[in-house]
Amino acid sequence: MIEIAPSVLAADPLFVYRDVSRIVDAGADLLHLDVMDGHFVPNLSFGPSFVSALKSGFPEMRRDVHLMISNPERHLDAFIKAGSDEITIHLEIEGDLPALLRRIRAAGLRAGLSIKPGTPTSAIVPYLPQCDLVLLMTVEPGFGGQKLIQEALPKLGEMRAAGFAGTLSVDGGVNGENCALVARSGATRLVMGTAAFTAADPKAFLARCRQF
Ligand code: DX5
Ligand code: ZN
Repeated sequence: MIEIAPSVLAADPLFVYRDVSRIVDAGADLLHLDVMDGHFVPNLSFGPSFVSALKSGFPEMRRDVHLMISNPERHLDAFIKAGSDEITIHLEIEGDLPALLRRIRAAGLRAGLSIKPGTPTSAIVPYLPQCDLVLLMTVEPGFGGQKLIQEALPKLGEMRAAGFAGTLSVDGGVNGENCALVARSGATRLVMGTAAFTAADPKAFLARCRQF
């Protein structure tokens, strides 16, 4: 069954607790937290304290932390201590990816790698055995509310063909119109920001998106 992971980046910053409560009550499977450093991506979002706030506010919800930061090495311990359940780093950073993935798993968390739309599947294949999840970006990372880049979707099948059996998550521009295509392309998790938090009837919306 498809997991739905609303991206809390799209919640109203003045009413985060209200918006997250609404989407959790509507049946979200886990919370996706988009951490941005203003360097790896041109936007800034939130840090470890926000992760721990969500853990205390919604202890029953797993936290899928997406680090769009250039130097995860420096911040990894803080995000682990803050209560992340899964941590995804970007393949495109300068850093020792195997060592970082090992550190995440050694802390008992699920480890993920994310690739931008322009990064080919061949670049991530060597790291797949160290990943519990792959986060396929279908927008240039940095901002919610963008249009899904369909040309990135075949990478899902390419990763399965390369033997990856873990979670295939898609992040960026996923909505009620394209979620069938994304699911049929092989996604097992949909990250949804704008579409999830603006749905008039979130319960019906989530049910419709996970039926594929
Ligand atoms: C981009 C962010 C967004 C967010 C989803 O860096 O990662 O993709 O999670 O936002 P929507 O669903 O509004 O595109
Ligand atoms: Zn994300």
